[in-house]
Amino acid sequence: MIRDRVVLITGASGGIGRAAAVEFTRTDEGSSHLFLVGRDADRLKVSAAVVQAMGGRQAANRDAVPAVTLLTADVTRPEDVAQMAATVERMTGRLDVLVVCAGQLEVGPAEELGPVVAERLMRVNFLGAVNTIHACLPLLRRGRRPVVINVSSLAGRLVPPYMGAYAASKFALNAYSHSLRQELRKDGIRVCLVLPGPVDTAMVKGKLGGPFYSIPKGTPVLSPGQVAGAIVALADHPRREVVVPAWLTPSGWLGSAFPSVVDGLYWATESFRGLRKKLQPAAGSSRRETQRLL
Ligand SMILES: NC(=O)c1ccc[n+]([C@@H]2O[C@H](COP(=O)([O-])OP(=O)(O)OC[C@H]3O[C@@H](n4cnc5c(N)ncnc54)[C@H](OP(=O)(O)O)[C@@H]3O)[C@@H](O)[C@H]2O)c1
Repeated sequence: MIRDRVVLITGASGGIGRAAAVEFTRTDEGSSHLFLVGRDADRLKVSAAVVQAMGGRQAANRDAVPAVTLLTADVTRPEDVAQMAATVERMTGRLDVLVVCAGQLEVGPAEELGPVVAERLMRVNFLGAVNTIHACLPLLRRGRRPVVINVSSLAGRLVPPYMGAYAASKFALNAYSHSLRQELRKDGIRVCLVLPGPVDTAMVKGKLGGPFYSIPKGTPVLSPGQVAGAIVALADHPRREVVVPAWLTPSGWLGSAFPSVVDGLYWATESFRGLRKKLQPAAGSSRRETQRLL
């Protein structure tokens, strides 16, 4: 176990980021100082309460350095991110683990998801990561075994239909991470990528399983805790990238090497859905009518 780490997590007001905060607290037995970042102060407070219940200590409970510090910031605003880094500088003077997890998702037909949505997703998912890493680099250079963990997505490898802008933002994040990893290696800063499949969080609510976010049969829907476990494992033992769950790793290779196979897979999924939909009105009608439709 690594003790007394300084960890900053963006997107910590819910989902995977909150679960990561809990997992760091659990594995480090509350010895780490967590900086939790998000736009929504109330939801950040909930994260702090959950972490506290796991054994983290908050400012009010401690005379020395608080173990959990909540930072309200929009990662698309460089001034917010600079302020965030300045607070870390003032309080701990260093950063050991940076988890870049803030993100947004939109799914839908290309006619509906135009350039405005695409720009927002790029601003949050890609430029937000660049802003955060850029502001935190001086702190990481003073960190102990410093690690940057970028939370990307399997959609950054294996691209489903109706998700072009989101997938593009994750492709950009992947490329940025690969370059940064090579650049910072000589300085002892490790850069890792996490590529999760679908996770049960607010982000996918009302989308997953809907007409624009269907997943091939058998694809698991993960809990935020499963991804959090992978994040903390990377902080302890940095690797270039991990797919969660690990057994989906070959599907990522498939997406990169053989996009035509992926086309076929999604085409089959869509065709099956289309056929099922066609048959639905027949459910209440006669067997003969169903057979006619088939
Ligand atoms: N859920 C999935 O299926 C899935 C799969 C693969 C990868 N991921 C990735 O995992 C990461 C976390 O997503 P999640 O599933 O945990 O979703 P979530 O529960 O919706 O959490 C998203 C987090 O990002 C923060 N955020 C969004 N826009 C922000 C901004 N402009 N500035 C600062 N913070 C911002 C949100 O906080 P505020 O609203 O308080 O700002 C929230 O804490 C994302 O990068 C996502 O792309 C998710």
